[in-house]
Amino acid sequence: MAVRIQPSILSADFVNLQAEFQSISSADGIHVDVMDGHFVPNLTFGLPVVKRMQEISNLPLDVHLMIEDLDRWAVEYASLGVFSVTLHFESCKDVGDTIRQVKSAGARVGLAIKPNTPVTVIAPYLKELDQVLVMSVEPGFGGQLFIPASIEKIRAVRELINQSSRDIWLQVDGGIGLSNIAEVVAAGADTIVAGSAVFGISNRAGAISALREAAE
Ligand code: DX5
Ligand code: ZN
Repeated sequence: MAVRIQPSILSADFVNLQAEFQSISSADGIHVDVMDGHFVPNLTFGLPVVKRMQEISNLPLDVHLMIEDLDRWAVEYASLGVFSVTLHFESCKDVGDTIRQVKSAGARVGLAIKPNTPVTVIAPYLKELDQVLVMSVEPGFGGQLFIPASIEKIRAVRELINQSSRDIWLQVDGGIGLSNIAEVVAAGADTIVAGSAVFGISNRAGAISALREAAE
């Protein structure tokens, strides 16, 4: 199966988002990093901006919520009609209930784990999840170095997903580029988020196709 490439708009020009979206039209989706300055030490944008992104985007939006109080806010993002909403395990009081809220609002639902969160925490939720996100950097900023121990976590999540016999996407986010995408995919990832490796290059279509080739 072909690997999905989702550029992260965290590294895009925030005052030219429409043009930035068009520049990555050959991607499989757009990864939208919502940060609140509390769950992570960085602040991006919130509901009104994601609402406009959803209105102008021709690609599916994959919303990665790095905010507090997900039990309250996740459903609001799902209700915008976005393709998927990913929750951080560490930020939900009631993970199961929040998963169900997102699903009943019509979005696919993902569960993300930070680098120091063990993969075993996802096991109870696999029967409801559409996606698992393994963070391969501490969430908050683009352009960080890939944490090598993530490879073992990706393998372990792949194992859990295979045991579940469900079609759950395994997404990896942080520090992925031409030099390591093949290793990440070989470990079991099928959905790759890339911020600086796409938006740091002026030829975005070229950057996306180079990532696809390197992934094989
Ligand atoms: C980091 C974000 C990532 C970030 C990845 O907290 O979740 O999506 O944009 O950027 P790169 O690919 O540059 O590491
Ligand atoms: Zn992200």
